[in-house]
Amino acid sequence: MSSHQPLGIFDSGVGGLSIARAVHRLMPAESLLYIADSRHAPYGDKPLEFILQRALTLTDYLVGQGAKAIVVACNTATLATVHRLREHFALPIIGVEPGVKPAVLGSRSGVVGVLATRATVASPGTRDLIRRFAGERRVLLQPCPGLAERVERLELDSPDTRALVRRYLTPLLAAGVDTLVLGCTHYPFLTPLIADEAGPGVELIDTADAVARQVQRRLLQRGDLNPPGCCASVRLLSSHADPAAQALLRSLWGRHAQVAALDETCCLAPALTAPA
Ligand code: DGL
Repeated sequence: MSSHQPLGIFDSGVGGLSIARAVHRLMPAESLLYIADSRHAPYGDKPLEFILQRALTLTDYLVGQGAKAIVVACNTATLATVHRLREHFALPIIGVEPGVKPAVLGSRSGVVGVLATRATVASPGTRDLIRRFAGERRVLLQPCPGLAERVERLELDSPDTRALVRRYLTPLLAAGVDTLVLGCTHYPFLTPLIADEAGPGVELIDTADAVARQVQRRLLQRGDLNPPGCCASVRLLSSHADPAAQALLRSLWGRHAQVAALDETCCLAPALTAPA
C-alpha cells in the first residue's frame, strides 16, 4: 500500500468537511481526497435510490483514484447506503451515524434531541439506534429541512438561519432536552448558533472525532496508516463547476488544499427507474 494513497471522503456537500477536519487533525500524515456533491445537495430530501446511485458513483470514482478507504461523511448517505457500498466494494468503508449512544449516556434530564435531515429521521437505521441505546430515555427526532442548504450557502449566522434553528429547537427545549445530537455533518458548522439558541444547559454531540478514531483503528488494523511526517496532500472536489462552490470549500476547510471541480462524468444526476 503506497503512503500516497488517499482516504476518500464524500458528502452531499460541504458538511462532510467537519469529518475531514477531524480526520486531518488526528492523522495529518494521511492524504485526503474529498468530494462535495454540492450539485445534488441536499440528499436529505431525495429518494433513497438517488442517494444510493450517487454513493455508488462517488465511491467508484474515489476507488479509481486509488483511495485506500472510504469515509461516507454523511449521516443520510450512511444510513441509506453503507450496507450496499460494503457489498459492492472490498475496501474499508466507514460511515457516520447520529450520536444517540453518547447523548443518552450523557443526558441528565433523560430527554435527548436529534437534529437531522428528513431522510435520516425516517430511516429504519435511526429507529434501530434508538431501540438499541435509548433504554428509559426519550429520544426526540427533529427533521431540519433547509438547514444543510444554509451551510451550503455559507449562511452560518444569518437572521434567517437563526430563525430556522430557533424553530427547530423550540419544541425540543420545551420537552426538556439537555443534549442535542448534531445528526447531520453540515450542522457542526452551525455549532455557535445552535449552542447560542439552545442555551448553556444544553450539550451538543458531534461524532466527528469518534469517526476519525474509527478510521484510524481501521487503517491501523490493515497496516495502512502512514508514518508520522509523511508528505500528505488534501484535494477537495466539488460536483458544482461554479467557482463559488470551490471558494466555499476553501473557506470552510480554512487551510491549504488543492480545490477543483469533479470530473463532469461523475456529476450527472442518476436516471432512476420508476418504481414498479
Ligand atoms: N451532511 C448530510 C448528513 O450528514 C446531509 C445533508 C443533506 O441533506 O444533504 O446527513
